[in-house]
Amino acid sequence: MDKLLIRGGRPLHGDIAISGAKNAALPELCAALLTAEPVVLHNVPRLQDVATMLKLIRNMGVTAERDDNGMVSINAGGLHTPEAPYELVKTMRASVLALGPLLARFGRARVSLPGGCAIGSRPVDQHIKGLQAMGAEIVVEHGYMIATLPAGRTRLKGARITTDMVTVTGTENFLMAATLAEGETILENAAQEPEIADLAEMLIAMGARIEGHGTSRIRIQGVDALHGCTHAVVADRIEAGTFLCAVAATGGDVLLRHARAEHLDAVVEKLQEAGVKIAPVEGGMRVMSAGAAKLKAQGFRTTEYPGFPTDMQAQFMALNCVAHGTAAVTETIFENRFMHVNELVRLGARIQVDGRVAIIEGLDGTARLSGAAVMATDLRASASLVIAGLVAEGETVVERIYHLDRGYDRMEAKLRALGADIERIE
Ligand code: EPZ
Repeated sequence: MDKLLIRGGRPLHGDIAISGAKNAALPELCAALLTAEPVVLHNVPRLQDVATMLKLIRNMGVTAERDDNGMVSINAGGLHTPEAPYELVKTMRASVLALGPLLARFGRARVSLPGGCAIGSRPVDQHIKGLQAMGAEIVVEHGYMIATLPAGRTRLKGARITTDMVTVTGTENFLMAATLAEGETILENAAQEPEIADLAEMLIAMGARIEGHGTSRIRIQGVDALHGCTHAVVADRIEAGTFLCAVAATGGDVLLRHARAEHLDAVVEKLQEAGVKIAPVEGGMRVMSAGAAKLKAQGFRTTEYPGFPTDMQAQFMALNCVAHGTAAVTETIFENRFMHVNELVRLGARIQVDGRVAIIEGLDGTARLSGAAVMATDLRASASLVIAGLVAEGETVVERIYHLDRGYDRMEAKLRALGADIERIE
């Protein structure tokens, strides 16, 4: 299995391009299932999860070709098997995003339950509840959700949906299903992430009638059919945020091309309070830092967008490990998203975890983290360990970086281009 070898202590300078957002590309690949006409997506990131999603839809009979410039052409006209099998779903829970589109277009779907995930149980009960409210009949047997429409019905029907908690992919499943349902659907406590607004823009380009996307209340008027479209995937705010934390920690001056500062308000605010200089510039954002020894650790609580994103918690914690002062980090979204803590402690970090709260004692400018072999446990934990390795003394080897490859497009190449001493070893 691949590993990353990092020699810490080098500042980062230069400019890199932020890739398309994983968490927009995945639902948008599923949105292409809603029409029999060709769909073209640009700026699709080169990620393991995207490769898995392409495999999933090809498995259904969809043609999907990608070129070397991030363009994916999809034609779901020949879709013959509205199914998402366990062997693919177990490796990527976002496969559940096929459920809404398949039900909306074909009136039936057979999608494996995703099973657990490293960061939490992550059930899909809300997805089932919302689609049942739209008239679907869903039974769970042998580990699969078997979804059909009642006899005599050929379409889902619009409904008013309020989920027990805000759910990103739940909102996306309902949004896609509602575009072809009969009548109006209202999502009352919809997720507000920029990836959802981007998905809605793609659906509108396909002829869907949607308003309120990006707010907590989305209204959709169903239409009889959707046509093809061309859409460019929004830039990945979590990749951008990850690089902001990396430069903050190592020190340096970097331009993140295509990054959208307005999608990262909560993270930018915390970094500026820490002492990092961040400025939106034409077509991106610029980050400047004198290095962690000059920064003040920041406490924060993860919460739904536009609050501090749970997907940035591990990366910012790595920064807190090497900044000044003590900070409390509270993870409110997932029940087990502190697995990077034990690995950071191996590098010399001082962290105490008590349930959903982690207390990080920063280094007071004298001590430093010391490089060691550490193990990635999930996608954002991997990024956290890379950031720590970039500032640790000596060599850090991050193992099991297939986790990193799920959600970061050539991270080590981008870091090397900025001056980091990092390489991938077999
Ligand atoms: C999406 O996951 C993202 N994945 C996650 O990013 C992200 O961490 C998460 O949203 C929260 O922002 C994609 O977009 C592909 P949720 P999702 O449904 O939709 C509970 C990454 O690192 N819940 O918003 O699966 C759930 O257990 C990944 O890129 C239910 O109980 O998350 C969690 O506690 C990791 N029942 C909370 O709601 C349900 O039916 C929020 O989950 C659905 C969710």
